[in-house]
Amino acid sequence: MTVTLQLPLLSRLRTETRDQHDAIEQTLRLMDDDLTAEAYRRRLAQFYGFYKPVEARILDGRGALAAALAVQERRKTPLLEADLKALGQATACLPLCTKLPPLVSAAECFGCLYVLEGATLGGVIISRHVGRKLAISPASGGKFFDGYGEHTGAMWQQFRTAIATFSSGSDEQDKVVASARATFEALQHWCEGK
Ligand code: HEM
Repeated sequence: MTVTLQLPLLSRLRTETRDQHDAIEQTLRLMDDDLTAEAYRRRLAQFYGFYKPVEARILDGRGALAAALAVQERRKTPLLEADLKALGQATACLPLCTKLPPLVSAAECFGCLYVLEGATLGGVIISRHVGRKLAISPASGGKFFDGYGEHTGAMWQQFRTAIATFSSGSDEQDKVVASARATFEALQHWCEGK
């Protein structure tokens, strides 16, 4: 008899998206020693173009995510708007990504939110780098990467609990992982200008 051991969903997500995480890190180049304010502003504008339509779909206050989490406080679009304003960039004219994965079912929304919430972990490191290299603080254009600030660990734990609870009552782990991968892929294409 063959027994297939199923890893917990969060381990699967981390393992099965690692290649994509590494690729996007390489593409963004936000940790470069010679990061410029202009390159930083351009990346924020790209994130705005991606997060705005994605959050309008998955953090709209309805559906499975809203039932499990206080989604309002997880929206990053307002932080991106504040940062871009602080850096003198109008947002009304910025392009928005239209090539998004399907973000309808609970599994699809959880998979996508895994990517967005995980980004707050790397954000802590990026925030420090941007502060050191460009002297940009949360008050002067660095709110997005500062994310939840000192609450980052607690917010991540809360998300982990919510997604683990969802997956324990569902057999849709493959769909969650597929959606996380589709989200990374869409972001990668968007950031590469494809
Ligand atoms: C220069 C860019 C980036 C750097 C340096 C970076 C760095 C990191 C680091 C150090 C962690 C692990 C934190 C920990 O375990 O405490 C992490 C986790 C994560 N990051 Fe990034 N990151 C970057 C960009 C991104 C982006 C753009 C996304 C997606 C939008 C992302 C999604 C994630 C996810 C989902 C995790 C959680 C992995 C897990 O434990 O399951 N990261 N990142």
